[in-house]
Parts: sequence; C-alpha cells; structure tokens
Amino acid sequence: MQLIIDTDVGVDDAQAIMLALTHPGLTVEAITAVSGNTTLDNVVRNIFTVLDVMQAADIPVYRGAECPLLPDLWERDPNVHGGDGLGDLPDRPPTHREVEAEPAAVALVRLANESPGELTLIALGPLTNIALACRLDPDFPQKIKQFVFMGGTISAFGNTRIVTAEFNVHCDPEAAYIVLDAFPQSVMLSWETTMQHAFPWEQYDALAAIPTAAGRFFRDTSRTTRALLQRYPQVPGYLLPDPLAMAILLDPDLIQASSQHYVTVELNGRSTRGQTVIDYLGLHGREPNVEIITGLDTGGVYAMFERALS
Ligand code: BDR
Ligand code: CA
Repeated sequence: MQLIIDTDVGVDDAQAIMLALTHPGLTVEAITAVSGNTTLDNVVRNIFTVLDVMQAADIPVYRGAECPLLPDLWERDPNVHGGDGLGDLPDRPPTHREVEAEPAAVALVRLANESPGELTLIALGPLTNIALACRLDPDFPQKIKQFVFMGGTISAFGNTRIVTAEFNVHCDPEAAYIVLDAFPQSVMLSWETTMQHAFPWEQYDALAAIPTAAGRFFRDTSRTTRALLQRYPQVPGYLLPDPLAMAILLDPDLIQASSQHYVTVELNGRSTRGQTVIDYLGLHGREPNVEIITGLDTGGVYAMFERALS
C-alpha cells in the first residue's frame, strides 16, 4: 500500500501515524499538514516529532491550509490537545527534518498524477487540503485508489459546541461538502463509532506502561486527553478516533459492520452547521457515496497498538 496521510496532529493523529509507520507492507509516501487541533506550525512540528520518536526514514512533509476555507466562522478549542497539539509534550528531541516547499494541495495533485490509481489517502483532520486538491484538479478523486476519513456524525451525536457536528467537519464544513461531493466513494469513521469502540481504561493503562520510547510518547502525549475524557461519564474509555480510521484502512478485516449511503454536509443551519446529513432511506435518489463503518474489532486495533509501541 502507498499511503498519504493528511493530518492536524493532534494526540490521536500521532497515534494513527504510529500505527501506519509500524504496519508491514506499507509505504507512507507523504504527510500533508492542515490546521485543526492546533496551528499549522505546531502540526508540522508535531509530525516531525512523531517521525523522530518512531525513528522513521525521511518522509516528505508538506504544509497545507492555515485556516478553513471560511475562517471567520470557527474557533479552535486549545484545551483538547494541549497548547502544542501534543498534550504539552516536554523535552522534544531536536529534529533534522525540514518541510517541503511545495504546498500540500499542489503536492497531492502532483503525487496523484504521478501514480494514478495507486495511492491510498487518509484524512485525519479538517478536509481543507483535500478540498483544495479537488478544486485544483477535478479529476483528483478519480486518481485516488481509496479515500478514508475520520469525521462526521451518523446520528447527530457530535463533539463540538454545534452539538450535532463532529470536530473535523465542524472546522471546515465547506471543505467537507466539496470533498464528499467530489469523491465517488469514501470510507467514513464517525464520532459515534468512535464512542462505541473505546479501549477500556485497563487497556489504556497497559499500553501507557510499555517501557519504550514510543510507549512513553504515547503515555506523555495522551495525559491531557485522558484527563478530559474521564470528566465525562458518557465516555466509556480511551477514545481512538483517528487510530480507528487508520486501523480499518490498514486491515479491512477489522471491519465488522458497515453500510453504504449518500452523505452530504449541512452548511447553513444555525444549530447544525457542519453536521453530516445521511440519506438512510435513499430518499434523495442519489447514488451512495460513502461506506459508513459502524462496527469493528477493537481487539485487532489493540494488537496494532501493542506492535506500534513495542
Ligand atoms: C477528531 O477531532 C480531532 O480532535 C481528532 O484528532 C479527530 O481527528 C475527532 O472528532
Ligand atoms: Ca485529527
């Protein structure tokens, strides 16, 4: 598999990247950075830190969008992933890595043209870069072998102050609208599926105790999100939004339930802007454009984490 990761690292983005870097038979061709969980500068720095901790070979990293397509309608919440996006990580290793000069959306289009039909793309943050690539080259989606994204809600149970919207779509609803409209087929890992597939806290503690550089990085970066999650009685354990999306991409055998539907995004609702709208009954008469994942094997995901942190 030749994979491109578009990301707003992000504690759980970092974990998802770790799963990809340690998965056999896979090459990470590029990582594209987008603003979301933290500023674009922090995202790029965080990508380098993950690559350094994992002692990864050089992987081209591209700077993408610094803000959503319509920036004035959104505010970042600095409390979720810490001020730096990695749980206020102390003592980062110095890095030799440098960001590429080419903008992320231009690189996405170029890479897709160089290897049409070969590249798998996963989006772990707001869809701004992917939307820009779709606008730069309307044939971009057709040149991507498979597109997976973490984002959206499937029953209006969200995680933002627009309570029906999930964070990545909430950050840039126009981008999500453009991407869902442009890609003939996407795979969606929603917020509700995330809530239903947590690691029990004992499993989280076992991973956080793995005595390796990767294990300590996992423990140190996840302290902030762990404390936040434990404040909500509705949250059943340690949540894994981006790692679940990565896991079902890396090993589709982990998928236990999914269904195909037409999905778009609400752009105007006063209380629902950024909510994904799903035509469960086929009432629009539009072809399904999204495979919605609703069930997966968390035991298999845990085994991936053990391998990545060991
Ligand atoms: C998504 O929002 C971000 O906080 C996470 O990194 C994940 O991509 C979950 O709603
Ligand atoms: Ca993310």
